[in-house]
Amino acid sequence: MGKLAINGGEKVVTRPLGKAWPIRDEREEQALLDVARSGAWWRGAYPEAARSKVGQFEDAFAKLHDARHCVAVTNGTQAIECALKSLGVEAGDEVLVPGLTFVASATAIALVNAVPVFVDVDPETYNMDPAAMEAAITGKTRAAVVVHNGGYPCDMDRVLEVGKRKGIAILEDSAHAHGSQWRGRGVGALGDIGTFSFQMGKTLTCGEGGAVVTNSSELAEKAYSFHHIGRLSGRPFYEFHRVASNLRMTEWQGAILLSQLSRFPEQVETRERNARYLAQGLKEIEGVDPIDRDPRVTRWCFYYWNFHYRQEQFAGLTRDRFIKALAAEGVPVGIGAHGQPIYRNPLFKRMNFGRTGCPIQCPLHGEPVDYSQVRLPVSERLYETQALSLAHALFLGDTTEDMDLILEAIRKVRANVDELR
Ligand SMILES: Cc1ncc(COP(=O)(O)O)c(C=O)c1O
Repeated sequence: MGKLAINGGEKVVTRPLGKAWPIRDEREEQALLDVARSGAWWRGAYPEAARSKVGQFEDAFAKLHDARHCVAVTNGTQAIECALKSLGVEAGDEVLVPGLTFVASATAIALVNAVPVFVDVDPETYNMDPAAMEAAITGKTRAAVVVHNGGYPCDMDRVLEVGKRKGIAILEDSAHAHGSQWRGRGVGALGDIGTFSFQMGKTLTCGEGGAVVTNSSELAEKAYSFHHIGRLSGRPFYEFHRVASNLRMTEWQGAILLSQLSRFPEQVETRERNARYLAQGLKEIEGVDPIDRDPRVTRWCFYYWNFHYRQEQFAGLTRDRFIKALAAEGVPVGIGAHGQPIYRNPLFKRMNFGRTGCPIQCPLHGEPVDYSQVRLPVSERLYETQALSLAHALFLGDTTEDMDLILEAIRKVRANVDELR
């Protein structure tokens, strides 16, 4: 028997860390009851849509992100589809997307008949590398879907500069980044258009849901139309202008989101306080580094708190063995909200696009595409050896006690690393 829990020793953490997610009480119950009793179960039941729960949420969420417009939708994947369609992305267009993100960032591109082009990420931030982004632009590139991975904002100065110079639209997939700010402004509407997810794991949730935000009234009107079966605001209800689906959010979701939003500022503060404490502690342990935070990241509201593992500084212990040793000590560390680089999934690796190969083998695109040949060295290295992350709910403890336990567990693994080799 060794000292480490993985070898039969005593665990450092013997209770759940953080708080159980989602946080809820009688306020959410009351909110649902109110909707049930009102009989107004969809926003159209209100003479003025803005007064519905969904309408109120849209206003509040737009404000949180310094956006002029918000359209609430069914989920984060369809939010990206809706935003891409609003940008005018169509068959034959290429859209850039980071190699290391959740698969929906890329599948949404194919779902609007465009061709995803994978771009490598920055090893410090896990976000699309602006230099690699620029190098991937061709005459067919119409837009880039940049992801604030884990909630850590992309270098929007460079992303926007490249987008402007090259004439491509910037869509911020902000599914991990509710409340995050770059230079004091909310992410999402820094580029042309942005999207969010309110799926249950997210830091603002109603079980399933999404939103599109923008500062452009033209794009907002298109997003409204694409989420509402092709209707136009102010036009007759039975008049349709586009091929579009029904992506409307229900009043149940709107009510829960309003309630969750009232808890949000305090949760952000708690997470930020605990994360700063943890980052400080990690700096004193060789082999585990917090992200070197850019001062322009004025608020990092994280879904996953990403950090780095350095095998060479951790006495050669592999990252995966480190994760297992920490799990045995009672600390659930992951590698982020993505898994393997997207192009390694069977969908892309086996070019699994159905009988016709559409939309990837598209005469309007006219170029051969073979995702089995894609190699993004940084994304692959991060996935295989460097990425570490802690889920946001672990940071919701009222004191820094949980952070101390996490640090103690890491220090213990470090001190007894010889047991693992
Ligand atoms: C980066 C990213 N984009 C998009 C989505 C899709 O959101 P949803 O699950 O609400 O469809 C997710 C979901 O986790 C995500 O992580």
